[in-house]
Amino acid sequence: MKIAFIGYGNMSSALISGVLSSGKFNNSNDITIFHNKKKSEFNLEKCIFLESGSESKDYFDIIFLCVKPKDIEKAINQNINIFRDNQSVVSVAAGVCISSLKKIIKKNVSITRAMPNLCAIYNESITGICNSNESDTERKNYIEDIFRSIGHVRKINEDEMHEFTALFGSGPAYLMYFYEALMECGNFKNISNEDKSLLLMHLLNSTSKMLFVTKDVKKLRSTVASKGGTTEAAIESLEEKNFKKIISKAIEVAKKRSIDLSG
Ligand SMILES: NC(=O)c1ccc[n+]([C@@H]2O[C@H](COP(=O)([O-])OP(=O)(O)OC[C@H]3O[C@@H](n4cnc5c(N)ncnc54)[C@H](OP(=O)(O)O)[C@@H]3O)[C@@H](O)[C@H]2O)c1
Repeated sequence: MKIAFIGYGNMSSALISGVLSSGKFNNSNDITIFHNKKKSEFNLEKCIFLESGSESKDYFDIIFLCVKPKDIEKAINQNINIFRDNQSVVSVAAGVCISSLKKIIKKNVSITRAMPNLCAIYNESITGICNSNESDTERKNYIEDIFRSIGHVRKINEDEMHEFTALFGSGPAYLMYFYEALMECGNFKNISNEDKSLLLMHLLNSTSKMLFVTKDVKKLRSTVASKGGTTEAAIESLEEKNFKKIISKAIEVAKKRSIDLSG
């Protein structure tokens, strides 16, 4: 299998380090990266770097599109000669649908849309995947395995992509925002901001460990929020301000933005 990546930013570098560490691609000719910048700006020995598709005569089994949605049409057209019939094209671009990609590529390719998240950098992505009808099972499995090398994978329908993007694609930012909000609380004479940050990270980490093993989150929460206690007072204050509704509204807004961006 030969694979190509168009674009070399956050997402493709995470994917490439995932596939390299998975051991699937050991030959340095297996992976080619097309990027509109000079190779000297990067440091990746195990891949071929080319500035544009016109420099390549290779046939690629799978082409990953890893540029921002606004750059996708230009990036495909700049590299159009690497697209051939019967290839698999994988797009991680938020909001760009399978039918639009087919119109731009104008070849008989099968298309997979994937929505990973930033945790891909630590091989902990949550990725939603959907395939166009003509994708063959072997290739689909292969592509899924590549995403499994950077975390968890769930198959979804294309019409669920907006919802998935809003919840899991943007999800890391929501939790970081919550961490930021907690960072702004509590002034301690003997705890530096650096230490407070570390303690909050431990708090998020240990709480998620408890979530993994519990069957009943509300019951678990009630063991911290005892009747008439401090935690219950704080949760009541959040409920008075409709905290869950605020979160749900934010996810709806993200979903709507994803729909709007898809044109
Ligand atoms: N980051 C995330 O958490 C995340 C999560 C899910 C999905 N995604 C999707 O992943 C895609 C990439 O996001 P990213 O965060 O990796 O963006 P990024 O870091 O900006 O990477 C995109 C790279 O593509 C390059 N590029 C732009 N036009 C090009 C062209 N014509 N030919 C070749 N390369 C070109 C950009 O170069 P310049 O900097 O010079 O423009 C940039 O280095 C987006 O579509 C996004 O929706 C991202």
